[in-house]
Amino acid sequence: MTWTKTAFTDRLGIEFPIVQAPMGGGISTPALAAAVSQAGGFGSLALSYVAPEAIAGEVAAVRSLTNRPFAANLFVYEPGTPTAEQLHRARDLLAPIRSDLGLAGEPDGPPPVRYNVDDQIAAVLDAGPAVFSFTFGVPKAGVLAECRRRGILTMGTATSLAEGLALADAGVDMIIAQGSEAGGHRGTFLHDFEEGMVGTFALTRQIATRVDRPVVAAGGIMDGRGIAAALTLGASAAALGTAFMLSPEAGTNAPHRRMLKSPQAANTAVTRAFSGRPARAIVNDQIRAARPMERDLPPFPVMIELTRDIRAAAIRLDRPDYIPLWAGQGAALARELPAAELLRALAAEVGAVLPA
Ligand SMILES: Cc1cc2nc3c(=O)[nH]c(=O)nc-3n(C[C@H](O)[C@H](O)[C@H](O)COP(=O)(O)O)c2cc1C
Repeated sequence: MTWTKTAFTDRLGIEFPIVQAPMGGGISTPALAAAVSQAGGFGSLALSYVAPEAIAGEVAAVRSLTNRPFAANLFVYEPGTPTAEQLHRARDLLAPIRSDLGLAGEPDGPPPVRYNVDDQIAAVLDAGPAVFSFTFGVPKAGVLAECRRRGILTMGTATSLAEGLALADAGVDMIIAQGSEAGGHRGTFLHDFEEGMVGTFALTRQIATRVDRPVVAAGGIMDGRGIAAALTLGASAAALGTAFMLSPEAGTNAPHRRMLKSPQAANTAVTRAFSGRPARAIVNDQIRAARPMERDLPPFPVMIELTRDIRAAAIRLDRPDYIPLWAGQGAALARELPAAELLRALAAEVGAVLPA
């Protein structure tokens, strides 16, 4: 028995139990997902910020580069409705930033919710990836049944034991244990975000001992030692997001790349400042400015729409203080390597730790 033979690799027929985690906002490109899958790992395509009618094209782009399996990922949630008070607080936070960036005016009223999640799910199922992975919630029973009918495996995100058990009860095939170290949004859906701030070690072990299906550990895993630790704790695979953000195939913007390589990469925090939903990013001015009003900001996805023009301008003007610099707590260990090379390095490192 070698470390490469796990319930996860068996289920998907792949070589290594190493997942490139989905990263929205154009970071996990089709080229990145394809490179990882082609190298024997498991790539993921994040589709939450993609219009339903554009989803088939993204999935086809991966298929044009590899015939190996990969995951298509969505946020599964009910959009929140902001109160007048929350919109007012957002204006307090964002007006000085807009003025600093030379942006005229501000959106009046809540912006429209851009994409319908049910339409996105229908597009993903029609595209027929090997795996439909998701976060922020559990798809309706009918969606899970339809996945089974079409032979699409499901993989859901848990940030607590309770969420892991809820996903297993719903019949989700594989459970991602997303520890509090993870970069990007918290997947929490069943309880307070604070209750979902469990470290990857504790969470992986708890879920792995209680559910009868493959567990994928995620959060702060950056090298072969981290992957070996996850497997030792009972995970069937490890998912790495931040570790792939410096790969040339990733869509990470230039200021974000620079910050990931800077000493500030070691200082991350969970913030609602960019999207209204807690997410981990490198600490910058927007996070600091939002601290007094964190809990009073409009909910996801309203806040992410309200900050759309700011993000675009800050990237264009090279102003990382107003960019969501998503990163996990291990960011300082990120390596700038082509994805296939990084995957081979990770596999060699695990092999050096875990006996064959
Ligand atoms: C830039 C970025 C974007 C992310 N976007 C998504 C997403 O669209 N869907 C999702 O399920 N998880 C998303 N995540 C969470 C990752 O899938 C994963 O849980 C996390 O990267 C693991 O922690 P690590 O970054 O420390 O490796 C994102 C993470 C990052 C860093």
